[in-house]
This record gives sequence, structure tokens and C-alpha cells, in this order.
Amino acid sequence: MKQVFLFFILLFPTLLLASERNALASPNGKLMFKMELLNNKLFYTVSYGGEVIIRPSSLGFVLSENDSLTSFEIVKTETTTFDETWKPVWGQYSSIRNHYNELTVFLKDLKKDRKLEIQFRLYDDGFAFRYHFPEVNKPLQIMSEESRFNFADNYKCWWIWADYNTLEKLFTHSTLREATHVAAPFTMQTSKNTFISIYEAAVDDYSTMTLKQDLANPLSYKVNLVPWADGSAVKKSTAFYTPWRSVCVTTSAGKLMESSLVWNLNEPCKIEDCSWIKPINYIGIWWEMHLGISTWGMKGGHHGATTENTKRYIDFAAQKGIQGVLIEGWNTGWENWGQVNAFDYVTPYPDFDIKEVVRYAKSKGIEIIGHHETGGDIISYEKNLEKAFAFYKSLGIRYVKTGYAGPVNPTTEHHHGQYMVRHYNKVMEVAAKYQIMLDVHEPVIPTGLGRTYPNLMTFEAVRGMEWNAWSEGNPPSHTCTLPFTRGMAGPMDYTAGIVDILEKSQAEKRVKWNDLDKGNSAVHSTVSNQLALMVVLYSPLQMASDLIENYNNHPAFPFISGMPTTWDETKVLDAKIGEYVVVARRKGNKWYVGGITNEQGRTISIDLSFLTVGQNFKLQRCSDAPDAHFETNPTGIEITKDKVTSASQLEIKMNEGGGFILILEAED
Ligand code: NOJ
Ligand code: CA
Repeated sequence: MKQVFLFFILLFPTLLLASERNALASPNGKLMFKMELLNNKLFYTVSYGGEVIIRPSSLGFVLSENDSLTSFEIVKTETTTFDETWKPVWGQYSSIRNHYNELTVFLKDLKKDRKLEIQFRLYDDGFAFRYHFPEVNKPLQIMSEESRFNFADNYKCWWIWADYNTLEKLFTHSTLREATHVAAPFTMQTSKNTFISIYEAAVDDYSTMTLKQDLANPLSYKVNLVPWADGSAVKKSTAFYTPWRSVCVTTSAGKLMESSLVWNLNEPCKIEDCSWIKPINYIGIWWEMHLGISTWGMKGGHHGATTENTKRYIDFAAQKGIQGVLIEGWNTGWENWGQVNAFDYVTPYPDFDIKEVVRYAKSKGIEIIGHHETGGDIISYEKNLEKAFAFYKSLGIRYVKTGYAGPVNPTTEHHHGQYMVRHYNKVMEVAAKYQIMLDVHEPVIPTGLGRTYPNLMTFEAVRGMEWNAWSEGNPPSHTCTLPFTRGMAGPMDYTAGIVDILEKSQAEKRVKWNDLDKGNSAVHSTVSNQLALMVVLYSPLQMASDLIENYNNHPAFPFISGMPTTWDETKVLDAKIGEYVVVARRKGNKWYVGGITNEQGRTISIDLSFLTVGQNFKLQRCSDAPDAHFETNPTGIEITKDKVTSASQLEIKMNEGGGFILILEAED
């Protein structure tokens, strides 16, 4: 009886609004949606806690041959409620609730009497919609998706310019008026402190979206699809669903970061047995090449990926509790990087004995992360794909990092269009077939497909650590912005954890190899900030990226070496976009807390009430030394130990560009 009663209470807001046919509320009733037909055009409106955040915004498509799907008649609507809790293979949580109310509108197009359906979903932390083309029997070309977001005010926002080929950029903080053409995720804050992130989920055989401002109305943005060479946006020939257009809506910046909306909008796992999928931390033959200490290829006599050097990394990993070693530059072709057919993906350089390296790693319980740099040469990579993955599989290599550093071949296609989306998803499927987990660099922006294919583990899609090795680098505010912008798209292989901040330990060996290098590169943060980033920026493959010589005997290394790469629980304790972030993550009876700040120092109070009441916890802390500063004294750290309970309060000073990391472990 009690359960039946509860059921009605839960459904009441939906049913009430469904009786209006065209309106819907989120399960907690705070997010409201309305749809209306005005002169046969379909519009939607969204409000949150009484604040209209998206004013009436139109929906539809322009098709090829002067055709369009923009004027409709409503045939019927249907509403449903869905509520389940599912367990991801890895992630920020060990279980995720997927609870939404849904309204589907069945439309008849007035031009040619075709059918189109639109699903609208309301979650407590967001709104999403997608189109369904139920009847496609001949080739169809979408020239433009006419979905709009008409924002109600000139919100503050954080964005990068919509480049069709790269996402490796620094963010601009402005108001909407200045943000004329932006990449997604697009994050904003209203004057009533509602936080919004516009995004897309489940992009499969479609092109990715950017958001283009309407010149006549700067608060209005239209979905802009990255085009094919012929100018069309999407090519289809059978019935399909578009990706979800999503609007994450929360009361704080921290809640944006805690949201699982992008995962909930993706399809459940399609891999039956996921027992082979394991998140790991890793080190690698990587930073040394970016610093110019060694090279990817053999020319010049400073080859990084030699059998001997790799064994050193394997030994270090085995001794220090690291699970994997990435090897870049083991295969021939780097002399021709950027040209077509540069790599065959299977031939080792003569100074690299791949079988011996894998045998040695296995004997020490270490995973090897293989590498496929494609240079963007998709045509050649696709020809070699099966062979390249079968080769790693035959050796027992279960992790592969891919990379697309270079212009796409075919040169007429953009990096973020449908052609490349097809390519990345094909690689994901081939990798799954060979039971290989992926870390994709220069990817198309991730959209949560890692729920459906959990072997698709992590992505770059960010101006990451490498930029600090050979350019003016990333300012401290960059990483304080990422969790709320790029981070909304899912895991990020930022590759933090540098302790030799000034990059001086082998400075005499460095050779300039990148034109952006002005000889003044450094990691613009303190050491404590670097350690904290590994907690703040989530990735199921988490790299500690510095040279092993720099980690050897470093007092702070134990803070990162045993860090989990999948969590039971995640709580953002405090955050202001672009300024600071404090995140707590739990695995079993251990909490890790990471805090970072921008160029400004600040003191943070941490209330430990998230700890189990009545339990004592051992606290280890690494924070900035009193005179630490990201420019003048970046390596100054202080390591302390303490005992705390859920009633304790901590005051922690983060210096300029600084941060801290805490490990809290329940006592037996
Ligand atoms: C760019 C990737 O982001 C980086 O991690 C890699 O080392 C280089 N390409 C070379 O493949
Ligand atoms: Ca890159």
C-alpha cells in the first residue's frame, strides 16, 4: 500500500503536466518544459525553479534540394517515466541513478507528409532532446539542423572558439554577446546563479555540433553541424535517431561536475563480458620526447623507446605501485610523421624488442600501453586497422593510445565531421573485438559512448600537459575551468603529475623540436597543484607524466602512485569556475581530496562531514609550503599527518597557482 502511494506521489507532477499534453516537469518538479506550435513551427521553452532559462526556441531541419522539415502538425504526444540505477564499469560513481520524465511528440511534416518524432527528457539535473527519423528509405542529406537555444539573458559564459579541427585551446570567459561561435560543451551562469552546460550525447554516425550565435539576436544560438567537404552536414540512408542535445542545469558549479547526464543519455553497455576492462594508472616514455630529451624516431641517436629504457620504466612501475607503461615511438615511421602512409603500425625500430618488452612487463605484472600515431592519415590507418589491433592482441597488449596529430587525410574532411565520427567509432568497435582498451588523443569530442563501449576509456580533446613542454603553456586558471567545460564531456587524459615544474632536471639534453617552443617552457603550477589535478580531472587511465628520475625518492610520489582510477563516490566540496575547485572522491574506505586554485592564492575551509560518523580517519596531506608560488617557488611542499573525524574542520591555504591533496583512510 505504502509503495503504491509513493508511486503516485512520484508520478503526480508528470501526470498533472501531461494532461496539458505539451508540458513536462523533472522528477523533482524544478525543471519545467513546454512545447508549442506557433504558425506550424515547433518551439520549446525551459525554466528552472521559476526562472526561464531558454525562451521559446525553434526545432527542425533544412534538407538538400531546397527541402526542409520545419513546419508541422502534432499527431499525438506520449509521456513516460523511467527510473533505474545502473552500475558503470568505471567512473566517478559505482552506481548511477537514471531518472527522468519523457515526452515524445509525433509530428507530421506539412510539406511532404513525412513523419518526425522528437523525444524530450527532463532529469533533475538537466533537459535533453533528440529527433527520430522513423522512415528513411533513400539517401537523405541534412544541410542544417535548426535546433536553437534562445537564452533568456546575457549570461556569463566559458567557451573555446569553434574550430572544426582541434579542441586544444584556452578558454575565454565573457558574456554570451562575445561568444559568437563556440565549441560544445558550452558552459554559462545566470544572474540567479543557475549553472548551465549545453552539450550533446551519443554522437554516432552524425557530425558533431558547434553553437553559432544569431547575428541579429546575440542571445540566440543555433546548432551548427561540422560539414562534409560537399557542404552537407549529415548523410543518412536508413531510419535513425540524432544525438541528444543536452542542457545540464544545476544550482552550483560543483553540481555540474557531479552530473551524470551525459552517461544517462547513452545506451547501456553492449559488451557482454566486461571482466577484461580495467582502469589503471600509468607512466610512460612520453614526457621525455615532449621536452626534447629523446625522440620518437631513431634519427639523431636519442631514441626514447629502446628496450633498455622501457625496462627501466617497467622496473620503476613495478617497484612503485604503477600499473601500466605507455610506449610511444617504438614503431617505424616517425621520420615521415605528417606524410601519407608513414606508419605500418607493426614494425619495431631495431633497438626495440617488442616481444622481450612484453615478456618482461608480464613477468612484473605491468600492463603495456601500445601506441598508434596516425598523423591524421585515416585512409592508411583504416587499411591497417585490423592488422594493427590483431598484432597488439597477439602480443598480449591490452591498452592502446591512439593519436591524430596532423591534418586529416582525406584532406577535404574536417576533424569533427561525420566522416571522422564514423572513423573513431569504427576504431572503438575494432578495439572491442580484440578486447583492447583505448586512450584517444586528438579525438572527436567524447559524448558518453564509453557507457556503451567501456573499452573507450579516455580522451584528450583538451589543451593538456604537453603544451607546457613546448609552448607558453597553460595558465593555472585553465585547469580550474576544465572540469566545468571540457570535463562535461567525460574523462580527460590531461596527464598531470609533473614534479620538476621548471623542467630543469635534464635541461642540458633538451633539443627544441616544436616551433611554439620559445625556450621558456614550464608547468605553471605548484607541485601540490599537480598532484591534486590527478584527483580533480577524472580519467580511468590516469597518467603520472613526469620522468621517472624526477619521481624517484620524491616525497610526494606516494600520494599519486596508489591513487584509484575508478571511484565509488564523488563530491565537489567547493568550486568557482576558473578560480578554484575542491573535489572529494571515495574508493572503499579511502577518500582522496584534491584542491586547485588559479593565479590567486586563497584559504579553503573543508568540512569533513562527508566522512562516516563515529569513524576515525588517518589524514595525510601534501600542500603548498608557506612561500610556494607557481612562478617563484613552484616546488615548495609541506607533508603532514593527522587524525580526523567527520566532526573535523580543516583550513588549507592554497598559494598562487597552488593546491593540495589529502588522503583520508578509515582506521580499522
Ligand atoms: C599528440 C598527443 O597528444 C601526444 O600525447 C603524443 O605524444 C603526440 N601527439 C605524439 O603522438
Ligand atoms: Ca594532443
